[in-house]
Order: sequence, then C-alpha cells, then structure tokens
Amino acid sequence: KAVKIHLNETSPEVVKLGSGSTPGTRVRVLGRVHRLRPQKETTFITLRDGYGYMQCVISGQLAKTYDAQTLARETSMMIVGSMFEVPKGAHAPDNREMHADYFEIIGKAPGGEDAVTNKVQAKGDAQTLLDMRHLVLRGETASAVMFVRDAVEHAFNVKYHELGYVKVSPPALVQTQVEGGSTLFGFDYYNEKAYLTQSSQLYLETAIPFAGNVYCIEKSFRAEKSLTRRHLSEYTHVEAELDFITFDDLLTHLEDLMCGVLSIVFANPRIAAMLQELNPEFQMPERPFKRMKYTDAIDWLREHDIPNEDGQPHTFGDDIAEAAERRMTDIINRPIFLTHFPVEIKSFYMSKDKEDPRVTESVDCLMPGVGEIIGGSMRIWDYDELMAAYRREGIGEEPYYWYTDQRKYGASPHGGYGLGLERFLAWLCKQHTVRDACLYPRYMGRCRP
Ligand code: 4AD
Ligand code: MG
Repeated sequence: KAVKIHLNETSPEVVKLGSGSTPGTRVRVLGRVHRLRPQKETTFITLRDGYGYMQCVISGQLAKTYDAQTLARETSMMIVGSMFEVPKGAHAPDNREMHADYFEIIGKAPGGEDAVTNKVQAKGDAQTLLDMRHLVLRGETASAVMFVRDAVEHAFNVKYHELGYVKVSPPALVQTQVEGGSTLFGFDYYNEKAYLTQSSQLYLETAIPFAGNVYCIEKSFRAEKSLTRRHLSEYTHVEAELDFITFDDLLTHLEDLMCGVLSIVFANPRIAAMLQELNPEFQMPERPFKRMKYTDAIDWLREHDIPNEDGQPHTFGDDIAEAAERRMTDIINRPIFLTHFPVEIKSFYMSKDKEDPRVTESVDCLMPGVGEIIGGSMRIWDYDELMAAYRREGIGEEPYYWYTDQRKYGASPHGGYGLGLERFLAWLCKQHTVRDACLYPRYMGRCRP
C-alpha cells in the first residue's frame, strides 16, 4: 500500500543512483525516467540522476494508478521502495532493482521524447540533433562524452599541479592576434577595435617571469570559414609555457603530460567504463612518441602518393593539409610529433632552428583519426629577431609593446603549446567530430541553442 511521503521528509534516506544500494534496504531516489517498459501488471523504469541509473519496478495497485499509467520518459519523480538482488541480464544495473511502494511525479514530460534515445540519435540528421542538443545530452553516449570531458579537464589540472605549474586566467577580449588575421572575430570595444582571443599564449609568456611554468584552460575563438570535422568557432584551449627549456625538453614534457593525463583519467572506474563503451579499441600511447621532421614527412607523403591541396606531389614549403595529415596518421596509426616546419607556414613568434634557419623549432602532435591535436614551439626570445618577425608578417608592433618587453626585461629560452580539448576528446572518445565533444558546439552557421 502506498504511504504518503514528502520530498522534505528525511526517511528513508535519499540515495544517489549508481552507488549500489544494499539489497534489503529501503531507499528513496530522485531522478528522471531514462527508459520505460510498461507491461500489463508491472512497469519497469530505469531512473537516471547524473550519478548513475537504477531499475525501479512499479507493480500491483501502484501500477494501476493514473500517474503510473500515464508515465512518460524524462518525467522527474521520487520513488521509495526496497532493494533486491536480481539475476544477471535482467536490465538492472549492478544486478539490483528497487521494488517501489510509493512514488510521486515531480515534473511531467510530454511523452514521445524519442529524440533523447541513443537509437534516434543514430538515425536523426545532424542538424536536428544539434537543434535538440539540450535533450540529446540526456542520452547515454552524448552524456558519457561530457563526463569524460569533465574528467579530462580535471586530470589536466591535477597533472599540471603535480608538475608545479601555476594556473592563470588571461583575458578573452584582446587587441592582438596570435595565429593570423584571417580567423579573428573583431568587435567594437568602447569605440576601439578589439578581438576575441585566438590563443592565450602571448599572455602566458608574460606570466613566466613571475610564476615559472604556467598554464591555462580557456576558451579560444577562431572565425573558421569552413565546415570540417575538427574546426570550431569557440573551443577550449589547454595552453602552457615552460621557462628555461630546450626544444627537446618540450617534446619530453608533452609525452609525460599526455600519458599522465590519460592514466589519471583511466584510474577513475566510472570514466574508464564509459571509455570502454565509447572506444573499446583505445590503446594507451607508447613512449617515446614517433618523431618525424617536416622534411621527412614531405618525403613520406611523396612515397605514399598523397598529393597536396592542389593535387600535386608535396614539396618543401607546402602546408600539410587536413586530408593528407589524416591519411598519414591513419596509416602510421600512433601518435606522431611532427617537427621543424618551414618558417613561412608557421606563426610569427616561433624561433628558428640553429642548424637549419629555413625551419622553426615547432611541433604538431598528430593523433590517429583526428590529426593535429597540439601545436607548439620554442619562442623567439631575441629582441631583434622578434622585430624582424613582426615586419615579415606585416604586424604593427605598437599593440604588442607588452609582448616585446619580455625580450627587454630578462628574456629566457622558453616554449609552449596549445592543445585543443575537443580534438583530444574526439580522439579519446572516438567521436566523428569535435562537435560531439562540446556541450553546445559553435561553428560557422551555428550559434544556438
Ligand atoms: O595550432 P594552433 O593554432 O596554435 C596556437 O594557437 C598556439 N598559439 C598555441 C600555443 O602554442 N599556446 O592551435 C593549437 C591547437 C590545435 O592543435 C588544435 O588542437 C586546436 O588548438 N585548434 C582548434 N580546435 C578546434 N577548432 C579550431 N578552430 C581550432 N584551431 C586550433
Ligand atoms: Mg596548429
């Protein structure tokens, strides 16, 4: 028989789902109907509360009530009942289910909300799914990627702090470019021209003299005027600057960072289980990562008949475009540090290789299935060299006075990198596009929900 229990009562205790409540105990749970299997005499509910799932069974008189008969998926509700052990394969997480003796509807749902099921996610067209992203996120796959994202961001913070790095928060509204004028979002800032930042790098460089090694996890913005699987207009950028290092130190640090972050992520059993579902073939990268110079990559691409963007064999100075890069990573099928790119195709701040001044001390980290997930380099730390770089790139030096000052007030050999969090996640979670790694992706043509 149903007993009247109110939300503000304290007995039985509210338990979070997924915590494996002991058979024999009475519990109260709060959540939303994730799945619903109404049968003649009994209704099976999979309840979801963000912590986990629980199978709840409503039967007898309770199942004949109006509320039970009209229950719809995504309804939020409170259920009170007793825990039972059930055989494997009975749809019940942890082989446990709750037999309800009381329930209350908290927020109704309209029913027919199939948009949130994984099945419909697979069938629905991409644009509809993005319009309905607020509901799609309630599905198991979309939410699992969000949980992994949280765990990865946390792992970066843990790893950096283990290494003694200081986190800073550079501004998003800026008056300088970092990665070229063509992808800048400009706006009017109290009658002055300003931009949404493309990268926090230049500001991070100004923090090393007081903080030593520094990092940040901030949004970067790029007006990317093309639709690809890996370009967003707004993305989360994990960036760091390392003081008093060599180029080789930078590469070693990157291996240590990647492997360290992954082992922190996989040490979390709930996240490890989600990754097993999302990406069952995932293999921990082996150290050292494969290292390949740009010039060797050009030879490799020629040998493998992979053409450049104009359909011609690659030659020195060519950009290695997304398609060629993807073919390369798919064939080599392990992380690659691609290093020493020509000066002309890289950013103004990169220092040149002492042995070969045609190329920079630069690195892109490429991952199978995605391609470039990290871009980094040593930075020009000589004043005159920086002035020459501004001139070469046609950059007016006035707005950069604070960046230039770093070369006057105790310069040091330093370097750093930026990692696209959504690209890292697309690789780790084996998602087709970086859009699936965002709560609400922003790319050309989409700015809602
Ligand atoms: O190679 P990028 O442009 O390098 C920089 O911005 C440097 N200033 C970073 C630094 O050294 N601090 O971008 C770095 C990474 C790329 O490897 C990629 O993973 C990601 O940022 N990225 C994007 N991710 C999603 N959408 C975009 N439009 C991206 N552009 C770059
Ligand atoms: Mg890059």
